[in-house]
Amino acid sequence: MPRTPLIAGNWKMHGLTDALGFFDALAASGAVSRGCELLVCPPATLVAAAVHAARSHDIRIGGQDCHAESSGAHTGDISAAMLRDAGADYVIVGHSERRADHGETDDIVRAKAEAARGAGLTPIICVGETLADRESGQEEDVVGRQLAGSIPSGFGPAHYVIAYEPVWAIGTGRTASADDIAAMHAFIRSQVPDGEGVRILYGGSVKPENAREILALDDVDGALVGGASLKAESFAAIAVSA
Ligand code: 13P
Repeated sequence: MPRTPLIAGNWKMHGLTDALGFFDALAASGAVSRGCELLVCPPATLVAAAVHAARSHDIRIGGQDCHAESSGAHTGDISAAMLRDAGADYVIVGHSERRADHGETDDIVRAKAEAARGAGLTPIICVGETLADRESGQEEDVVGRQLAGSIPSGFGPAHYVIAYEPVWAIGTGRTASADDIAAMHAFIRSQVPDGEGVRILYGGSVKPENAREILALDDVDGALVGGASLKAESFAAIAVSA
């Protein structure tokens, strides 16, 4: 099964309605429909409006998180079914900022991934080691454990995407070296069932200047972009590199 490259933007907690001009600007840049899938995950308040703004362009919209249950007494939370209802196709689960800020464990992430699939969304399951893990040579142990705990059993390559985001490379301007990325992506592929078909994205300070080198690596099937996804111009430049 060919692995269509996926370039995904994670806007995190950025973006008001005036950010929606992004979609026309991205389409005008010529970066759309060039053989890779484009996805933007705006804050939940903008999901429905982003679906509307992107409707005539070949750009998909996703959520940044979902609750593991489809409905219930969970003030402030959003279910996968709600994201789907708003027109989303994807949802990020287990981002390191959620794991750190909200105490999300692998069990919780796995339940969210299951809920996402149940609602018709494709979960982007995030994994990645901290600097301390890497400096102590434990990056494969940590990522291996996260994979084993966060991917629901019975999931095949078509059901999910993995994003490898070393925590120390997020928002720091530091990217992992090409060798480190290649080694970790190959390791991840070896750890998941039917790994040859699974799309594995790299995330962590991806920008127009480094995208080409990273995206050319064998086991890198796309990128999960934070800061550089906030401007259509830089996101488009990354997409064109793919
Ligand atoms: P930056 O691209 O800003 O480092 O963020 C990466 C990330 O966390 C995407 O999910």
